[in-house]
Formats: sequence, structure tokens, C-alpha cells
Amino acid sequence: MPKQHFPLALAPLLALTCLQGGHGLLYCHYFMEAFVHILIHDLQKAACWQSALQDAFPDAQVDTTDEVGSVPAEILIVWQPPTALLAAQDQRLQAILNLGAGVDALLNSAALPDVPVFKLRGAGMEPFMTEYVRYGLLHFYRNMDHYHRDQRKGVWQPRGLEDRQDWPVCVLGLGTIGRYVAQAIAADGFPVHGWSRHEKHLDHVTTHAGEQALAPLLSKSRVVINLLPDTPLTRGYLNHQLLGCLPKGAVVINIGRGTTLVLEDLMARLDEGHLRGAVLDVFPEEPLNADHPIRGYDNVLITPHISGPTPIKGAIDQLVSYLQAIARKDFSEAVSREAGY
Ligand SMILES: NC(=O)c1ccc[n+]([C@@H]2O[C@H](COP(=O)([O-])OP(=O)(O)OC[C@H]3O[C@@H](n4cnc5c(N)ncnc54)[C@H](OP(=O)(O)O)[C@@H]3O)[C@@H](O)[C@H]2O)c1
Repeated sequence: MPKQHFPLALAPLLALTCLQGGHGLLYCHYFMEAFVHILIHDLQKAACWQSALQDAFPDAQVDTTDEVGSVPAEILIVWQPPTALLAAQDQRLQAILNLGAGVDALLNSAALPDVPVFKLRGAGMEPFMTEYVRYGLLHFYRNMDHYHRDQRKGVWQPRGLEDRQDWPVCVLGLGTIGRYVAQAIAADGFPVHGWSRHEKHLDHVTTHAGEQALAPLLSKSRVVINLLPDTPLTRGYLNHQLLGCLPKGAVVINIGRGTTLVLEDLMARLDEGHLRGAVLDVFPEEPLNADHPIRGYDNVLITPHISGPTPIKGAIDQLVSYLQAIARKDFSEAVSREAGY
């Protein structure tokens, strides 16, 4: 679709209209009182976002940084933007929309302009992350780690299957993704406990809140699934001491942020034989070094931050809804910079 660049001078004349969006949804659309220039930065999928957003906002100028570089805009839609792009913004900028659920990289940038920041909340990633968690959980619950070792040793030894009720699972972080994962695992028949900052009520999940509740909760969990964001409070949280609260033979699955889990402490607990294994999708530094010692553990499954790919359609629907809210000057869904998520 050809771009239509709307002259700013006409902006006040333009009214609220509705249009048929590219996905067959009816998008209410505020013309350019709010923004004429949307700039996208995403090293992998910028063109894809651009065409979907241009469909949804045909009168806006939707550019990618590949096309125009680090220039000022009214709206930035970004994934891990370069400092130069943030530093190039001026008073025109109204908001930044993050193309992912984790806003740590953005909030930690010294060049972050003082405008509301929005993040993707689920947007359809939840089922993918649940699949990943199920894979990791079943790997240990169905003894695949033992069978994998037996295979290499030429051993043929069936192992009994335990009752799922004897496999309590603890989900750290009950946000959009944590809640979904917790309830899906509970529906599979595992006893599930969830932990967050504030009290919550979830069907089929026993909930706990606050720092004091964590050690006792870990002490009765055979599997811990981390879905906490990276914030000053969560950084380095799962350390040698807390990992030691888990019962012997417990398993750690980390799909939240790598900074929450101290890798050296995880390796120490694995070396001590206290932990049975781990499934790790996220790391304090990504990409993980080719010669990092954690790669040598045959009871650790490592993946390159792929548990929650962002579905384009779900994300576009959410971006459109945020842009409509921003046009109404409604910033209630922006992330809390103070809390860091
Ligand atoms: N690996 C991947 O591919 C991938 C993909 C998507 C997301 N992620 C990660 O997953 C994280 C979770 O995503 P989300 O969308 O579910 O996040 P979210 O909706 O922002 O929820 C965060 C949850 O963590 C809890 N929390 C935060 N700080 C805490 C603390 N100090 N103590 C206890 N609980 C705390 C919050 O508690 P309250 O509810 O009480 O505020 C909330 O329940 C993201 O931040 C991102 O890092 C990874």
C-alpha cells in the first residue's frame, strides 16, 4: 500500500473515524491529532510490523529505522533500540511501544526519553511459553534425562512413573504469562503454587505473595519455573541460598530473565547433586558464550531465548489498541518505571 504522509497543519480538522483493519478487525482510528510519524526498530521483523501497522493506520507515516535511520518521531515501536535512536528523540515523541514483554533493556537505557513506555502483554505468546514449560517439566517427570543417559550407556531399565500429585510446581511471577502457564500446568494435573508481589486469586493455583513467602514455598516445590521480569529487586534473586531451599532432586526452568538466576550458584547446586537439572532459555548475557561452563552439563537443556516468539497478529492488535489509547491521552496501561515492569 502506498504511504500517505499527512500534513500536520490539517491535523485538528480531522475527526475520529473507523476503518477496516488489515486483519478483518474493526479498528477505531484517531486521525493525526495525535501522531503522524510512527518509527519502527526491529532488526529481524521491521518490514513485517511496518506493513501490518500501515494497514491499520493508512494515513500515518510508518517508517523503519532501516529506511530513515535514527530520526525523531511521534511514536517509537522498538525491540532493543540503539542508544542513538533514543537519544535522537525530541518533544514530538509521545510514547514508546516495546515489541516484547520484557522492558528491562529499554528501561535500563540512560538515553530513554521521559515518555510513557508500553510493553506487549501476552499478545499470544502464552501458549508457546506453556508448551516450552511442558516440554521441560515432562523431560524430568517422565525420566527422559535418565533414559537419555541410559541410552548412551547401553542400559535398558524401565523406571516407575510417579503420581503427578507428588510433583508440586512453583511458578515465580503471576503476570500475563505466569498466570497462563500456572493454570495450564494445573490443568495437566500437577499441584501448582504461584508467587507474586501482590496477593492474587487464581482458580486451581495456590497463590503466595511477598518475599517472606518464597523460601517456604521453594522448600516444597519439585519444579520451579521463573517468569519474573528483570528488575532491581529480581536481579540475582535465585542465588545459592534460595536454590538450596528447594528439595534435593528439584528442577529449575528459567524462561523469564537470565539475570534472576545466578548461573554460578545453579552450577554449584548441580555439582553438589542438590538439583537434578535445569532448562534454560534466558541468560544474564545473550548470546551465551560458546565456552560457558553451563554448556558442559548434560542435565541442563539450553535454548537461545526462543520460548516465547511474538505472534504478529496478536501483537498488532495490542499495538493498535495502545495507539488508540495514546491518541486519547490514556496512558493507564504504560509500564511502571519505578517497579521496572
Ligand atoms: N523467554 C522468552 O522468550 C520470553 C518471552 C516473553 C516474556 N519473557 C519474560 O517473562 C517475563 C514475564 O512476562 P509477563 O508478561 O508475564 O510479565 P508481567 O505481566 O509484567 O508480570 C510480572 C510478574 O512478576 C511479578 N513480580 C515482579 N517483581 C516481583 C518481585 N520482586 N517479587 C515477586 N513477584 C514479582 C509481578 O507481581 P505482581 O503481579 O504482584 O505485580 C507479576 O506477577 C517478562 O518480564 C520477560 O522477562 C520471556
